[in-house]
Amino acid sequence: MMIAKNIVLMGFMGSGKTSLAQLLHVRYGLVVQSTDKLIEANERMSINEIFEKKGESYFRQCEHRVVQQLAHERGIVIDCGGGIVLNPANITALKASGMIFFLDANEDILYDRLKHQTDRPLLRTPDPLTTIRQLLTQRRPLYLAAADAVIDANDPSLEPALDQILRFIQ
Ligand code: S3P
Repeated sequence: MMIAKNIVLMGFMGSGKTSLAQLLHVRYGLVVQSTDKLIEANERMSINEIFEKKGESYFRQCEHRVVQQLAHERGIVIDCGGGIVLNPANITALKASGMIFFLDANEDILYDRLKHQTDRPLLRTPDPLTTIRQLLTQRRPLYLAAADAVIDANDPSLEPALDQILRFIQ
């Protein structure tokens, strides 16, 4: 499949961005770029290590640089880290490059998907469910404002979300 602009996948950790991006790659041959993977490659450190050794604000700077680079590309899928939405300049750049899809899932489903994961530094707290709720309260309005389309990402199968995305780009 050829697409003129980018498919930009946004949403909270655990909303299925990476899995959907993989499906778009495997099924339709679309090139995928992940902001987190590019940051890890540039820094030669895992996301956990970057947060530990350099702190979140350093990570956000790396993230912004990667976004600026990716926003020059066309016809690809961009798998965005969940915090991309915190910087309005990221949104401006990504919106100009393509269509922003917000994968919207509720907090209990997100918690269920994330509770055994160890690679989310922001959720290494005594009470991750409360942390998820707090972050969502702050971010959900930002995702909604940024989105060209809101995709229901509650279903464990990726097919309904994929169908919704395809309907928008075809
Ligand atoms: C973050 C989300 C993570 C990663 C980092 C920070 C966030 O990406 O960028 O741990 O602030 O929500 P995923 O959304 O792919 O988990």
